Amino acid sequence: MSESRAPETATLLLVDDEPANLDSLERIFAREGYRTLRAESAAAALDLLRGESVDVVLTDLMMPGLSGQELLKGVRAVAPEAEVVLMTAYGTVEAAVAAMKDGAYDFLTKPLKRHGVLKSVAQALEKRRLLQENKQLRARLASGASPIVGQSPPLRATLDVIRQAAPSSATVLLLGESGTGKELFARALHEHSGRAQGPFVPINCAAIPETILESELFGYERGAFTGATQRKEGRIERAQGGTLFLDEVGELSPAVQVKLLRFLQEAEIERLGGAAAIKVDCRVVAATNRDLATRVKEGRYREDLFYRLNVIQVVLPPLRDRVEDVPLLADHFVARYAAKNGKPVRALTAAAVEALEAYSWPGNVRELENAIERAVVLSQGAELDVDALPDAVQNAARAGPRPAIPAALEGRTLTIALGTPMEEIELRVIRETLRHTKGDKNLAAQLLGIAARTIYRKLPKDS
Ligand SMILES: Nc1ncnc2c1ncn2[C@@H]1O[C@H](COP(=O)(O)OP(=O)(O)OP(=O)(O)O)[C@@H](O)[C@H]1O
Ligand SMILES: [Mg+2]
Repeated sequence: MSESRAPETATLLLVDDEPANLDSLERIFAREGYRTLRAESAAAALDLLRGESVDVVLTDLMMPGLSGQELLKGVRAVAPEAEVVLMTAYGTVEAAVAAMKDGAYDFLTKPLKRHGVLKSVAQALEKRRLLQENKQLRARLASGASPIVGQSPPLRATLDVIRQAAPSSATVLLLGESGTGKELFARALHEHSGRAQGPFVPINCAAIPETILESELFGYERGAFTGATQRKEGRIERAQGGTLFLDEVGELSPAVQVKLLRFLQEAEIERLGGAAAIKVDCRVVAATNRDLATRVKEGRYREDLFYRLNVIQVVLPPLRDRVEDVPLLADHFVARYAAKNGKPVRALTAAAVEALEAYSWPGNVRELENAIERAVVLSQGAELDVDALPDAVQNAARAGPRPAIPAALEGRTLTIALGTPMEEIELRVIRETLRHTKGDKNLAAQLLGIAARTIYRKLPKDS
């Protein structure tokens, strides 16, 4: 019985005005390896709680003096992390509902059954563990550290390059389809560089109108143009001592391309309307989902700028080329969004994972992340199944991967003489496959990659 195994450190506080009841509870829990404390009144229990760290309080509801329900409120104040399970001989629905509203984890009716008590306590402990995990995860999210998840060879290869490139000041060009993690990797480069204490300044070159982009990048002096009522620092200057992330760098106008090239060559800029050159020491990381080399060939992108940006090139592999990472990423996002939304979801069913693996993810990790987030937000239970996933994913699963070849078929061959008419070949392959699937026409159809009705159609009526 796995649910009755006590986590090594779990401490239970047993509260009942009847010592005999405490004795028998103690025996039950001692045998399972729990550490137990006992109190014969709610007041004594509260005293103990002030000095001891307790995981679960198991208390009688009806006691002289303070009742179990009052103790529950006291626990919430003194030891809010502890879970409370109430026991009563007078189990009424009303009392149970009131207790649950006040934050009790569970409600047991006497006479107690050993199995029921153990199960309730084990579940209360599990809930506590999850809450603590979620709290840690939330703290990590709040601190802004986003881990890069994945174990596939292509992802590891890119991580290796990132690790090697990070400490230098060399310009890095990140290439990859939308949603492959370009911004995430840009931040990782910054965080693993000697400039990690400096600022990380992103600018999305595609999101800012061309007319404003130049002043955003380079800043301006007062009076540089109508409306420039005071001087403004540009993003490049703000990246002083840190990292400038030029996102969507494929989208620059020719005019801005020239100015950016100058900055990359000279490591200095001039604000719009300003005369003085300002030295800027920052590391440049650029990203694009465009094929820049082709744009250069077509004359739409400056070749000299391309070479300045392309000092170290990192290509982020699309998700469909690293299916191994899909389950890891999915688990990661389930944990993240369950914590963020306070949901009890803990895992995906095996079928759901298979469906995720079968889908081709044109939107890459971002699409996967969005799909999981939506499923988690709408979820009720502890597991996410296929039906929680977007239609496109469900459809891919149905069209899905070919079933594994059954053992009965493994390595079986069929000898067919060259020159045999196709119709006869088809018939013989179908018959042989059927023989090994023990007449299962649906399985045979799946293995052969044809519709089951095709099998029915091709076989003579009597077979
Ligand atoms: N390997 C990974 N591990 C964990 N999260 C990831 C990973 N790759 C991408 N993500 C997450 O996927 C989302 C998309 O990543 P990101 O914004 O970095 O992609 P992008 O390549 O910049 O996309 P776009 O081209 O659309 O701007 C982000 O929330 C990011 O945290
Ligand atoms: Mg991006």
